[in-house]
Amino acid sequence: MCGIVGYVGNQPAAPILIEGLTRLEYRGYDSAGIAVMGPNGIRIVKRAGRVRELEAAVPKRFGGKTGIGHTRWATHGGPTDDNAHPHADAASKVCVVHNGIIDNASTLRDLLSTDGVQLRSETDTEVIAHLIARSTAATLEDAVLEALQSIEGTYGLAVIHVDFPGRILVARHGSPLILGVGDKEMFVASDVAALVRHTSQVVHLDDGDLATVTAAGFQTFTTDRRTTHKSPTSIEVSAHEYDADGYAHFMHKEIMEQPAAAERILRGRLDDRFGTAHLGGLNLDAREIRSVKRVKILGCGSAYYVGQLGASLIEEVARIPAEAEASSEFRYRNPVIESDTLYVAVSQSGETADTLLAVQEVKRKGGRVIGLINVVGSAIARECDGGLYLHAGPEVAVASTKALTNMALGFALLALQLGRVRDLSVSDGRRLIAGLRRIPADLEQILATEEELAVVAGSLADAESLFFVGRVRGFPVAREGAQKFKEISYRHAEAYQTGELKHGPLALISERVPTVAIVPSDELTDRNVAAMHEIEARKGPLVAVTHAEADLGSVAAVRVDVPKNEPELDSILLIVALQLLAYHAAVKLGHDVDKPRNLAKSVTVE
Ligand code: G6P
Repeated sequence: MCGIVGYVGNQPAAPILIEGLTRLEYRGYDSAGIAVMGPNGIRIVKRAGRVRELEAAVPKRFGGKTGIGHTRWATHGGPTDDNAHPHADAASKVCVVHNGIIDNASTLRDLLSTDGVQLRSETDTEVIAHLIARSTAATLEDAVLEALQSIEGTYGLAVIHVDFPGRILVARHGSPLILGVGDKEMFVASDVAALVRHTSQVVHLDDGDLATVTAAGFQTFTTDRRTTHKSPTSIEVSAHEYDADGYAHFMHKEIMEQPAAAERILRGRLDDRFGTAHLGGLNLDAREIRSVKRVKILGCGSAYYVGQLGASLIEEVARIPAEAEASSEFRYRNPVIESDTLYVAVSQSGETADTLLAVQEVKRKGGRVIGLINVVGSAIARECDGGLYLHAGPEVAVASTKALTNMALGFALLALQLGRVRDLSVSDGRRLIAGLRRIPADLEQILATEEELAVVAGSLADAESLFFVGRVRGFPVAREGAQKFKEISYRHAEAYQTGELKHGPLALISERVPTVAIVPSDELTDRNVAAMHEIEARKGPLVAVTHAEADLGSVAAVRVDVPKNEPELDSILLIVALQLLAYHAAVKLGHDVDKPRNLAKSVTVE
């Protein structure tokens, strides 16, 4: 959420900052700005809107080889030019960009105003620039530390100061920051996406770290001014993984990458001999697995819905009671943490504040947490006691697709391993392994039906309101389908348990309100068909996302057939058909699919 870039070196900073912001735009895209320090001081350009509007506003001759930039997702104050970062003090001596939230901003704003400081924005961030500018400390490091002492909240912060040219001071507390090490140049970013074109050598800062960054290198230190020594590590992702590769949208590219991503998460983790999965990173031995009495899954947004799918998989395959909860709720209800419960955090970014805080709450109370995380080395991954990486590759579109499919596969692997230590038979284990091995090909088959799905999506795009319904295993599928549809098409889409429709929402069904019904070919097909008849009787248009094997009788639904796998694994595939429905509806409506309004990819604030 919000993107930070910084550059110090021998090249003009502005184009590097703008390019970096373009790469980070998925983190927030309501306004953007840069500040560059040249021989005549700091110049700032900032604009409401997208990075391309900022780029158009930056003068051709915009000298200076040290600078910082920011792309914003508004928290305090609307998306206006004034509220865009960077923020400066009155004399533009100090300039800051910031991710996170300053909790005591209104107190600090009042104090500064009482002292005669004219605040120019409605943001929490602006106070930081004023506090640093007012410091009489002899060094930038001490001035920033002094300002941070007054601040309560979270920050990823980058600061430039006219009295200390050729230097960026950065600080991290709760919001990611990475340094990129170049040849006589250094980069700062909130995300490797902004760095991969310039360097593969990065330093991940930890909470509580500060760093002085100059063209010659970097020096890290702690809030009590102790010097620390951090060595760069190599990042494995290549720059082209952040390119759209000829696709109109990253979301489309990422949907299409799913067969390969699925291969990656399964590779080396399936054991035919014992009919189990090998997840060495769980850090749980057989005895510990046997003592698990309950599994609690924590995630947000789509990760939460896949968590529900994971819970049903674990309960069904491993016969351990399992449930998922939105991590945004969990922490606030003072949850009981049990030592025989296995907590599972699920997150693409590994940064989502609500999930990170939920993990910290569990750990503070002595619980054990494992993570299903995509971004290697991310904050949540580092906080967990163990887990498995999803290996989906970088995901840029705000609406998660390939990471989500790999989350579901991750849960299948986890359920298999837990199950085989408990009561799952070796033959059932082998059956599930065979099913998992078929998943990449099944995914290919779904993707091959894209044109038909686009036609169905076209028929749904004009509906004011839609229902997505599913029963038991199909309900998380319906929830995720509705989520995808609403977030990128801006149509109201609501998920319901199929059996609950008749207890209220059926009142809304009419010829203008279509229903997408999840109807796998399983022991519940008849029940689902009965519900579809009830919808049909109220003239509700129907789309059935189903299997060719399912007999829908006389229901006149538009059919979307996906390949049938094992019953426990079918949901993973049904979701993918819904991704394509949502994508093509949004394309038909002409929306900015990768950057849906008001949203952001990584939500690093509560
Ligand atoms: C945001 C995104 C969602 C995502 C959720 C959780 O709300 O817009 O697409 O599902 O965060 O993100 P995570 O990175 O934790 O999976």
